[in-house]
Amino acid sequence: MPIDRGGRLTYLTAMAILDIITLPDPRLKLVSEPVERVDDAVRKILDDMLETMYDAPGIGLAAIQVGIPKRIVTIDLSREGEPKAPMFLVDPKVVWTSEETNTYQEGCLSVPEHYDDVERPARCRVEYLDRDGKAQVVEADGLLATCLQHEIDHLNGVVFIDHLSRLKRERVTKKFSKQAKLRVRSTGWRPSMG
Ligand code: NI
Repeated sequence: MPIDRGGRLTYLTAMAILDIITLPDPRLKLVSEPVERVDDAVRKILDDMLETMYDAPGIGLAAIQVGIPKRIVTIDLSREGEPKAPMFLVDPKVVWTSEETNTYQEGCLSVPEHYDDVERPARCRVEYLDRDGKAQVVEADGLLATCLQHEIDHLNGVVFIDHLSRLKRERVTKKFSKQAKLRVRSTGWRPSMG
């Protein structure tokens, strides 16, 4: 959906950039609720998520990553300099996956600066409702297949590190828990400036 420059500006003013939650926030483990009906409130979430994702920047975002436990995902795989190509997915469901697999080095806005190889089905078919509430189906391969599965995982409380070996996962979890503790402690130590 290409947006002309003037139109885009008007479009942007109504949007808000939301805070992205990171490990070890327990909300990342929640199973998100189905939406079922796409109304203006859902479209507002979609638009804010898209803006938040572009700002991060990221290629995919699930609503729970901005603390909203609803089955909503935004994706845009367009590269810098290319026209934007946002995908809005409400209640997305993986209905088929290939036996053939692919390994991608994945990252996640909720697991900042950590990248690891994840093996997933190389192709998948996903059913969802679009921004207008219309039923859609997408058959994906390559990066889109990986991204769809990664984001839909979030709706089920699964983060990409959950696909790693126990040893690797524990190492990452420990690192983020330690960072979170340090953050809390440093806030506690900060002298009051009035
Ligand atoms: Ni992610």
